[in-house]
Amino acid sequence: MSEIATTPVVSTIATIGQHESQSVTIRGWLYNMRESGKLLFPIFRDGTGTIQGVAHKAGVAPEVFDALKGLTQESSVIVTGKVRADKRAQGGFELDIEQVQVVQRVPEDDPYPITPKDHGVEFLMERRHLWVRSSRQAAILRIRAEIMRAAAEYFDSNGFTRTDPPILTPAACEGTSTLFPVDYFGEEAFLTQSGQLYIESTALALGKVYSFGPTFRAEKSKTRRHLTEFWMIEPEVAYCDLDGLLELAEKFLSHIVQSVVKNRAPELQVIGRDIAKLEAIQTPFPRLRYDEAVKMLNQAHKDGHLENPFEYGNDFGSPDETWLSSQFDRPVMVHRYPANVKAFYMQPDPQDPQFALCVDVLAPEGYGEIIGGSQRVDSYDLLKSRIEEHKLPLEAFQWYLDLRRYGSVPHSGFGMGIERVVAWLCGLDHVRETIPFARTLNRMFP
Ligand code: 4AD
Ligand code: MG
Repeated sequence: MSEIATTPVVSTIATIGQHESQSVTIRGWLYNMRESGKLLFPIFRDGTGTIQGVAHKAGVAPEVFDALKGLTQESSVIVTGKVRADKRAQGGFELDIEQVQVVQRVPEDDPYPITPKDHGVEFLMERRHLWVRSSRQAAILRIRAEIMRAAAEYFDSNGFTRTDPPILTPAACEGTSTLFPVDYFGEEAFLTQSGQLYIESTALALGKVYSFGPTFRAEKSKTRRHLTEFWMIEPEVAYCDLDGLLELAEKFLSHIVQSVVKNRAPELQVIGRDIAKLEAIQTPFPRLRYDEAVKMLNQAHKDGHLENPFEYGNDFGSPDETWLSSQFDRPVMVHRYPANVKAFYMQPDPQDPQFALCVDVLAPEGYGEIIGGSQRVDSYDLLKSRIEEHKLPLEAFQWYLDLRRYGSVPHSGFGMGIERVVAWLCGLDHVRETIPFARTLNRMFP
């Protein structure tokens, strides 16, 4: 025989529906309060969601009513009440309050600085350590976590081994202009821009590998897409060519998007994201040669959709990418850029060595580049001359050249920036809200 429960169960707000008509305890914070005479309508949050409570002066103990009345926003509280289904309520339930314990009361003379009214973004970023409590910001962070989980899950369940590259590095991976120098016991070191060079090594050891960690770029650009510290997930595969890489990229991305749609529907609803647009992200993705993309850009300029004419041979600028990616309802994979606008390690196309066997994946709805990758140069002689042409220190790259000295094979990989994907899937117009504490050209606080 089971014991009769004498104390109410503790529930999260997200799972409170499992306890309809029962008394439960939730532990959280006062999100907002509406008072109308003898009726109090506090809204509680606990990190999993929000729920409205109801306390009628005649229906609760006097000390319960007094504890709630005038309670300040963001005071921490433990609340017990009976769960009641209510179709009009967000989440479908309300709580008829029975008990309240105030854990910490926010003082009246030093109120919580973020009120439900509209604040400017700068005001909010300055208080980011508190702003993350708002429903919208919390929903974005949950979606971010799901993107990271699903991304790792895809590789973990498809034969990849996670290998973690170092963050302190002796040399550049993505060009020397965006390096953050670090004093390493009197020697100059740099924060990593990408784990790629190191996972090329582990790919030749383990076959299929990936890395997932923070990367750093001293980007002087103040755009809505650039952070100086961001998270990148990078697969690297031995015996894989560019075609194989494109297939991997589209399967990987659609897995992430469908996982978010499936597992984060309430959060997508909180932020008002159009789910139909995400459900459409199914393989195959369109493939577009650089040359074809340029033709589209030229036409767009003629038709007055783009201010500046595109000069053949350049890399795409933000407005070009925005326009290109807005032409498709799923990510478009632009491949074979001119080799001289791309990184030194990219394999030239044997059909025409002016072009690199590389890909940029541009997200739809104008979000632009979310993935950059390529097949890697596998010839020792070519790689060595590329390092020299790019004026990179040959000595620092000797170990990397070893990968072409000893058992070199065709291999390919890409990097996906998590924050760009969060911005796209959440429909945000700036990456600063995609990471708990954004680091940008002009912000390192809090
Ligand atoms: O295109 P990128 O520079 O490629 C590399 O770093 C390769 N080594 C990756 C590889 O092949 N293993 O960067 C990859 C992705 C971009 O597509 C973008 O999503 C993101 O990283 N990214 C940034 N995200 C936010 N802020 C920045 N400053 C970013 N720079 C790149
Ligand atoms: Mg790139």
